[in-house]
Amino acid sequence: MQVLTRVAEVRSHLDAVRAAGRSVGVVPTMGALHRGHASLVDRAAAECDEVVVTVFVNPLQFAAGEDLEAYPRDLDGDVSLAADHGAAVVFAPTEDEMYPDGRGAVLTQVAVPALSERFEGASRPTHFSGVCTVVAKLFNVVGPSRAYFGEKDFQQLAVVSRMVRDLSFPVDVVGCPTVREPDGLAMSSRNVYLSAEERRQSVVLSAALADAVEAFGAGVREGAALEQVMADRVATAPAGVLDYAVVVDARTLEPRGRADEHSRLLVAVAFGATRLLDNASVLGPIGGARG
Ligand code: PAJ
Repeated sequence: MQVLTRVAEVRSHLDAVRAAGRSVGVVPTMGALHRGHASLVDRAAAECDEVVVTVFVNPLQFAAGEDLEAYPRDLDGDVSLAADHGAAVVFAPTEDEMYPDGRGAVLTQVAVPALSERFEGASRPTHFSGVCTVVAKLFNVVGPSRAYFGEKDFQQLAVVSRMVRDLSFPVDVVGCPTVREPDGLAMSSRNVYLSAEERRQSVVLSAALADAVEAFGAGVREGAALEQVMADRVATAPAGVLDYAVVVDARTLEPRGRADEHSRLLVAVAFGATRLLDNASVLGPIGGARG
């Protein structure tokens, strides 16, 4: 497996791969890779001839005062995980390589405002344009035919899918199921920020989703009632502050007065400075969750 840091190296390597008729899949990440990322690499390796894992902590998607500097970094660990799961290339550019004139000099922005304003975008108004801009750039560098994203970040998956459709990127976006800890907590690079007590209480996110899935299964269809079921479970965690617990249409992310089989449950809870996200179909399943 190769570790490349330069755009020109990635392009010339992958030009040769494509010229040989081999398909390229990409797994964009910010590193600190865990089993959730590994599941994306596994899926990409099963479906593509050559898998590129990108590792870049993208400053454009962090607002001032967020955890850009503190974000966990472990390139050696990332390289060995990527190799173990069948990646051919890790592309780990420096900030200079991605933004040679400085991040403030990136004048072009790619944005999907209608899908980006609510939920994560409400507390992070510039976040998704930072994500779209870097993902568009990574697609232009790597030239993948398939790109793998986690359902864990459901709004991000919706925004990126829409960007690809609207701008006719020749890329299939593949959404992959959320990988969880045994107690149900969705794996995230940011879970390392939790204290032992917060970690214990963080199970309320997946438990809230499981409660709402159970209520839907028992016939509850009123969106507000399902949202209350989730909020009630989150309220059992004294260290958690509910940001949102909503029922939305999975395709448009519009709130749903009445839930149906296309509805998605989204929940975000702050534990101290750490915001945790989770989501599920109203049909479940939520692997690993304990009620
Ligand atoms: P990052 O948070 O590193 O996540 C990279 C990919 O891994 C995303 O598609 C995310 O949804 C997926 N992922 C994270 N945790 C997961 C889990 N528990 N199960 C399954 N998939 C999981 O998301 C980003 O980076 C960035 O915004 C990026 C798209 C790379 C743009 O900078």
